Amino acid sequence: MKTIIEPFKIKSVEPIRFTTREEREAALRKGAYNLFLVRAEDVLIDLLTDSGTAAMSAAQWAGMMQGDESYAGARSFYRFEDAVRDLTGFRNIIPTHQGRAAEKILFSLLGGAGKIVPNNTHFDTTRANVEFSGAEAVDFPTDEGKDPDRIADFKGNMDVAALERFLRSTDVSRVPLCMITVTNNSGGGQPVSMRNIRETRDLCRTFGIPLYLDACRFAENAYFIKRREPEYASRSVKEIAQEMFSYADGATMSAKKDAIVNMGGFLALNDDALAQSARNLLIVTEGFPTYGGLAGRDLEAIAQGLVEVMDEHYLQYRIRSVEYLGERLTRAGVPILQPPGGHAVYLNAKKFLPHVPPEEYPGQALVVELFRHGGIRAVEIGSVMFGKQDASGRLIPARMELVRLAIPRRVYTQSHIDYVIEVVTEVFERRSEIKGYKIIEEPPMLRHFTAKFAPL
Ligand SMILES: Cc1ncc(COP(=O)(O)O)c(C=O)c1O
Repeated sequence: MKTIIEPFKIKSVEPIRFTTREEREAALRKGAYNLFLVRAEDVLIDLLTDSGTAAMSAAQWAGMMQGDESYAGARSFYRFEDAVRDLTGFRNIIPTHQGRAAEKILFSLLGGAGKIVPNNTHFDTTRANVEFSGAEAVDFPTDEGKDPDRIADFKGNMDVAALERFLRSTDVSRVPLCMITVTNNSGGGQPVSMRNIRETRDLCRTFGIPLYLDACRFAENAYFIKRREPEYASRSVKEIAQEMFSYADGATMSAKKDAIVNMGGFLALNDDALAQSARNLLIVTEGFPTYGGLAGRDLEAIAQGLVEVMDEHYLQYRIRSVEYLGERLTRAGVPILQPPGGHAVYLNAKKFLPHVPPEEYPGQALVVELFRHGGIRAVEIGSVMFGKQDASGRLIPARMELVRLAIPRRVYTQSHIDYVIEVVTEVFERRSEIKGYKIIEEPPMLRHFTAKFAPL
């Protein structure tokens, strides 16, 4: 059949609250035009993030009731360990409360002053953890990955030639590991090809550098490989995912994405000595190695989620619903980062609001307008999030002004997506009336979370 349907029935529902324009206007004023400061119950469709916002299945909830909450050696840990090992093949599986906790442990052990960590594109918590350790984080996206209008299959790839030039001109004893982020979240949720993972692995092997995957969206990436890399068309997503992991020496994972749970993560690796040090650190920061910052029930839900996420009907629905949103917006003339990613569509706010200069934060203006017009919450990924200041306090704008519409897993149906298309299209039709914003208060770091804005 041509119609791709949601591959589930709904047995438990959560009402969403419809608000009037006046109520939304009041919520915006109260939240100082920062959608992070608006109450979730005032949001109709929440596309702030796909992290930890998924709907769990009946089998996951049943698993939660069976969680073994023993402090040490819980049955739930062994179920979790089996599921992660079956998928990744790594010898040591270390649970953490979320992805950044795995990153913190890894870079506390391998980072430090003078070290350099290459990645196709560091996610911001990964970069923060590398830099917090004293090391330097360097990105190697490809040229096509940097072009928001270019349509290509694997825009998340590592620029292997640039990485090679870098390694040849660097003292490689300063490079403790190399990472590949799948899918490439900061690069627009774009996939990385198997070929690119293999080539990066070969290069790392030549230089004796371990390769780690930032594996948050491994299943979405594996599905893109199946669809776009012809030699994988008849392989199962699980086999493809296993092959992806087989090229790596370890992985960090935020289970809040492709394990379809609300909280959790892990660090998995082959190096036994490093794993022992990681477990020692885990005991100080997260907990005993058979629970690592999670309850037994959480480990059960992750083990089950890792199986469900590889269901190809689920992945077809997942990737297609994001693609559908991107396709319809493009058809309506709305400028988006092309092609749509695995977990999100990114509106190109620079082209959407060409009359609003970066100093007036076009992405933020668009985020506010989507909420004001239709109760949709999105997130600015532009000069509010990544802008810097020069010595005179003037804004150095971000490279792109984007607004991310991230789709939570298994939460919204096609009619919700159709509603989003309608709201974005109507806002686009009257875009010339939209004005910019100024920042009236901001914290010293990560300002997008708590900054206060005022309309110009
Ligand atoms: C690519 C990537 N890496 C790491 C993380 C961090 O994971 P967590 O939020 O679970 O700490 C995220 C979260 O969004 C991510 O997208």
